[in-house]
Amino acid sequence: MFAVTGASGQLGRLVIDALLNRVAPGEIVALVRAPDSVSDLAARGVQVRAFDYDAPETLAPALAGVSRLLLISGNAVGSRVPQHGAVIGAAKAAGVALIAYTSILNAEHSPMLLAEEHKATEALLAASGLDTALLRNGWYTENYLMGAAAAVEHGVLLGSSGDGIISAAARVDYAEAAATVLARGLTGTFELAGDVGFTQAELAAALAEISGKPVVDQNLPQADYAAVLEQVGLPGPFAAILADSDARAGEGALFDASGTLSQLIGRPTTPWRETIAAGLTG
Ligand SMILES: NC(=O)c1ccc[n+]([C@@H]2O[C@H](COP(=O)([O-])OP(=O)(O)OC[C@H]3O[C@@H](n4cnc5c(N)ncnc54)[C@H](OP(=O)(O)O)[C@@H]3O)[C@@H](O)[C@H]2O)c1
Repeated sequence: MFAVTGASGQLGRLVIDALLNRVAPGEIVALVRAPDSVSDLAARGVQVRAFDYDAPETLAPALAGVSRLLLISGNAVGSRVPQHGAVIGAAKAAGVALIAYTSILNAEHSPMLLAEEHKATEALLAASGLDTALLRNGWYTENYLMGAAAAVEHGVLLGSSGDGIISAAARVDYAEAAATVLARGLTGTFELAGDVGFTQAELAAALAEISGKPVVDQNLPQADYAAVLEQVGLPGPFAAILADSDARAGEGALFDASGTLSQLIGRPTTPWRETIAAGLTG
């Protein structure tokens, strides 16, 4: 059986969809905090089990019969190492054979603050002795939709990534890769990213073209960008982490030209302009 944590999330739901194209619904277990939130999956024949990273004692029983597990990294930045550790311990106790984990691009060399919890989780996986597949995901193109409408409205795209090329791919591409790895039982380290990346200036030009309104790109020092993110409502620590990510992307931390993702999914990755256009106009 194939189990997926975070199955109620944006990536998790796409992984379940991709798995449903590869294996029988009854072989898929959706692990979620709130089973009611995925009643549509239950209706499609997927097994739904309660699974909360913060309730470690409940995790091993929920993994009964599971041989391959996808651990989708949690979204509680700062709490993720104990959470992921609890899942890995439970998987070992339950006899899971393989864990795939959604890590970050170039995890062991990444200078990003966000990479720290992924490095620690990868170390826990290595120490577990379980077979592992490290899905080192680059950025989701969809991340840029969060600020896209505001950029179009104000005619300026703010950021700190300068000339850095961001090899982003669509969530659906990463989801297909995860489902492929799980269904085929692949192990190893996979640096996953889009075939064709973009710079901040190219993104601004695309926003202008798609919207028909002028959008210029304005590169800010990291501290100024963090202040802007805080001004628009992000909590200070999170604003600092996002500005760090952007500035490190400017130094190449989110660039990849390996083509591993497209090889794994057997098709080119979704063109970034397509994802941006669909999100902006749809
Ligand atoms: N590569 C990138 O660009 C990028 C961008 C953003 C995030 N990420 C990482 O990738 C992950 C998946 O992305 P996403 O877009 O699918 O995020 P998402 O929509 O926020 O989904 C996160 C999932 O994690 C689950 N979760 C959170 N805390 C949990 C807990 N204590 N126990 C069990 N499940 C828990 C959520 O469950 P509920 O439905 O119950 O809340 C949800 O299903 C994120 O969690 C984050 O680690 C990567």
